[in-house]
Amino acid sequence: MTTDQVYFNPWDPEFRANPYPYYAPLLAGPPRVINLTTKIALVARYCDVTEVLRDSARFSADRGKIIPAPQMEQMRNQGPFKGAPTMLTSDPPVHTRLRRLVSRDFTPKRIREMEPRIREITARLLDVMQSKGELDVMTDLANPLPVMVIAEMLGVPPERHETFKHESDIIVSSDNTTPGSLLPASFHQAVDSMRGYFSEQIEQRRRNPGSDLISALVTAHDEGESLSADELLAFVVLLLLAGNETTTNLIGNGMLALGRNPDQLELLGHLPELMPRAIEEMLRYDGPVQATFRGALENVNLGGTEIEAGTGCFVILAAANRDPAQFALPEKFDIAREPKDHVAFGEGIHSCIGAPLARLEGAIAIGELLRRFPRVRMKDRDMKPSYKGSFFLRGLVRLPMTLQ
Ligand code: HEM
Repeated sequence: MTTDQVYFNPWDPEFRANPYPYYAPLLAGPPRVINLTTKIALVARYCDVTEVLRDSARFSADRGKIIPAPQMEQMRNQGPFKGAPTMLTSDPPVHTRLRRLVSRDFTPKRIREMEPRIREITARLLDVMQSKGELDVMTDLANPLPVMVIAEMLGVPPERHETFKHESDIIVSSDNTTPGSLLPASFHQAVDSMRGYFSEQIEQRRRNPGSDLISALVTAHDEGESLSADELLAFVVLLLLAGNETTTNLIGNGMLALGRNPDQLELLGHLPELMPRAIEEMLRYDGPVQATFRGALENVNLGGTEIEAGTGCFVILAAANRDPAQFALPEKFDIAREPKDHVAFGEGIHSCIGAPLARLEGAIAIGELLRRFPRVRMKDRDMKPSYKGSFFLRGLVRLPMTLQ
C-alpha cells in the first residue's frame, strides 16, 4: 500500500486485527468519500472528527434521516431498540430530553459511590486467579467485571449476569454483518430474551420501586416530561450494551498495550499514581470504540472535501487519536504522556455519559491486578491476538498472562 492509497474494509479480519496502518493515508489528507456498498465519507483527522461531532445541526446521529425509509424500517424492526428513540441515535430536541432525564443518575458523585462495590467485585475475581496461578485477562476479569457492575446498577440478580453477557456479545457482534445479509437467528433470540426480561422488570419496578437504576428511571421526570415505556426499555438495553462491552475492551486493550510494553508496565507498577494518565493513554492508543456514525443533513465542505447531503460518515475516533497533528509520536504508548483531549469517549452532545464509570472500573481493575500480582506478564509477547467480530467495538477474544 502506498502512502496515499486508502484501504478500508471493516469486514476483512486482517483489517480488523490491526486497522491502524490503514488510518495513516486517511490522516495525511482531507476526508475521502469511498463506496462501501453505499457512499461513505471517512473522517479521520482530529480536526475533522471534532468538527463533525460538534456540529449536530449538520451531522445527524439519527440514521433515519439519511437511510431510505423501507431499509430503515427493516433495520428498526430488527434492531435491539425496535424503533424507539435512544440518546445515541437521536438529535435535539429528542436527544436533549432523553439525556436530561437520565443524566442525574450518571453524575461523577453517583459513580464515586459505587467505588467500594467495584473494588469488592474485583477482589473476588482476583482471588480466583490467585488460586489458579495464571489468568486470561478477558475471561477472568475484563468480561465479568463490567457486566456485573452495570447489571447490579440495574438491579439484575447475579444468576442472570452470565446470560446477559452472552446475549450482549451476540447483539454487539452483529454490527459487522455484511450489508444485505440476514442477521442470524441467535441475534433475534438474544434481543427478544433481553427485552422480554427487562419489560417484566420495568413492570415490577412500577408496582414496587426499589433503590436500583431501573426504579430511578421509571420515576424519572422533568418539567412534566417522563420516559415512555418504549424509550425506557430501549435505554436499559442501550446501557447494558454500551456499558459493558466497551469497558471490557478498555481493560483488555489496555492490558495488551501494557503487556507489549514491559517498560510501561513496570513504570505503572512502581508509580501507581500514574494510573489516571495511564487510563487516558490506553483510551487514546487503542480505544474500545474505533468509530461512530453520522449522516450529513446538507452539503458540507469538510476539511476541503465536498460531502453531499445524505452521505453517511464513519467518524473514526481511533484514527483521530493517532493524528500526528494533535499528538506527538502518536504510535508510542506512553503512560506518562501529558493528557491532551482524546476523543475515545466522543465529543459534543453525545459524548459518553458513562465515561466516569468506565474510567473508575478500568483504574480499579488494572490497578488492583498490578498491585496483587506485580509480576504479571504476557504469556507470549509475540502472540497474534484474535479480535471479536466487530470493527466498531474493538476487543480481544483472549489475553493469556502469567502471574509469576
Ligand atoms: C471505556 C468505555 C467506554 C467507551 C470507550 C465509550 C465510548 C462512547 C462513545 C465514543 C460515545 C459517543 C458515541 C457517538 O457520539 O456516536 C458514547 C456514548 C454513550 N455511552 Fe459510552 N463508552 C464507554 C463506556 C460506557 C459506559 C460504562 C456506559 C454506561 C454505563 C456508557 C453509556 C453511553 C451512552 C448512554 C452513550 C450515549 C450518549 C449520548 O448519545 O448522549 N458508555 N460512549
